[in-house]
Amino acid sequence: MTTEQILILDFGSQYTQLIARRVRELDVYCEIHPYNHIPPITPDIKGVILSGSPCSVRDADAPFIDLTQFRGKLPLLGVCYGAQMLAQRNGGEVKPSTIREYGRAKLGTVNEDSPLLHGIDQHSQVWMSHGDTIMQLPDDFRVIASTDTVRVAAFDIAGEATYGIQFHPEVTHSLQGKALLKNFVVDICGASQNWTSESFVETTVAQLAEKLGDDKVVMGLSGGVDSSVAAMLIHRAIGKNLYCIFVDNGLLRKDEFEDVLESYRHLGLNVKGVDAKELFYTGLAGLTDPEAKRKAIGKTFIEVFDQEAHLIEDVKWLGQGTIYPDVIESVSVKGPSATIKSHHNVGGLPDFMKLKVVEPLNTLFKDEVRAVGRTLEIPNAILGRHPFPGPGLGIRILGDITPDKVAILQEVDALFINGLKREGLYDQVWQAGAMLLPVQSVGVMGDERTYERVVALRAVTSVDGMTADWAHLPYEFLADISNEIINRVKGVNRVVYDISSKPPATIEWE
Ligand code: XMP
Repeated sequence: MTTEQILILDFGSQYTQLIARRVRELDVYCEIHPYNHIPPITPDIKGVILSGSPCSVRDADAPFIDLTQFRGKLPLLGVCYGAQMLAQRNGGEVKPSTIREYGRAKLGTVNEDSPLLHGIDQHSQVWMSHGDTIMQLPDDFRVIASTDTVRVAAFDIAGEATYGIQFHPEVTHSLQGKALLKNFVVDICGASQNWTSESFVETTVAQLAEKLGDDKVVMGLSGGVDSSVAAMLIHRAIGKNLYCIFVDNGLLRKDEFEDVLESYRHLGLNVKGVDAKELFYTGLAGLTDPEAKRKAIGKTFIEVFDQEAHLIEDVKWLGQGTIYPDVIESVSVKGPSATIKSHHNVGGLPDFMKLKVVEPLNTLFKDEVRAVGRTLEIPNAILGRHPFPGPGLGIRILGDITPDKVAILQEVDALFINGLKREGLYDQVWQAGAMLLPVQSVGVMGDERTYERVVALRAVTSVDGMTADWAHLPYEFLADISNEIINRVKGVNRVVYDISSKPPATIEWE
């Protein structure tokens, strides 16, 4: 089965993924490929977008492609560097900007005759971000939009569906950027807007059924969104031949093992819960260094998973919840060869498992995974869950880990998370949790002097976890939660709230 799509060629811009997001928001499928790994041009490809780049077209080692393979054959849109490359490689002139061309700007003149600019307002706000500028266009190119300072804000070529824009339509500060992209993708390329989560589910389940046939698939579930949605897709395709494994590593949230297992069974998944708490605690005994703890947890997980997988006779595939941002080949702007990000989910698997990998979500962004999850009728309790790290409470208990400490932190965490839910704050924060600190402090309870543990609460707002701000939770809420924790969790007499942003801090403390 083939999918109509837009090809986005990446020249290393920080905004390339955003272009893909915007095209997908138009219900049109697209793929990002490095400029030096162009896939075969099949009839499914309806048009090509050339991304921006941190390089300058004036550099001797700047990344270029042979434009004749696309010009006049497929609709072509160059964005920023892509536009400058189109101009310069066809005989125009690109020079360093003499005035600042960064930030918001207003289009002064807009030529609405050009199909790219249909419906775009005369004074539309756009986002500029470039150090070079197009001084001179090739003879057959014409200017279709300018700003006060940038004469060639946009251009087209008579009789050809080739366009260039020096601003960034994919950034939300370009207020009509999405309308412009729609003009290109839908009107100029003629892409049909039928890429929806329903169509994704339908085609993916059919493809999985064909690919997997009667083969057995094993998959580790974490209770998180990605692995749950991936499992449900595979389940729809092959039913009981999907063998799911959910491991209790002793570092999960309070009651999480039982609750999540129950929801999976409710969804009809063939899932086995494996209680491996003791093995994990043994592997972690005496370890205090965060990386050593992460490694020990990862190693034990692989041992347990491998042992369980061997119990499934003749299993051929390993299911994974890898998503698109993990697999997009990111361009090395320094050299000719593309560097490819390793699949972090796959990284730790031992070679001897010799399983083929099936990753049904590896073309989706996170919000698309949630939309697919809703189409599959996965309950919101799973889809709306905060992210939770693989090593779990193991990296929230600072220093060495013991079952007693886990029990204390589980109680604190549960009070905090339930409080957030009760007060309607859970969905307003991106991630929340508690840290057990390796210090004790003096307190007083009744007439008694106490010397007990300190816990730190952490709640952040974020889009993708790459950067984050501390959540400005109401003081009354923090006061109530602090009281509740100190009164109800034996062994804790002090609660602090983490007010660090990322960067420079990280979300987790270890
Ligand atoms: P940091 O602490 O780096 O976390 O700001 C960013 C996001 O990643 C999660 N995280 C992890 N997830 N294994 C995981 O699966 C890990 O070792 C790990 N460390 C951090 C963290 O919870 C946050 O969502």
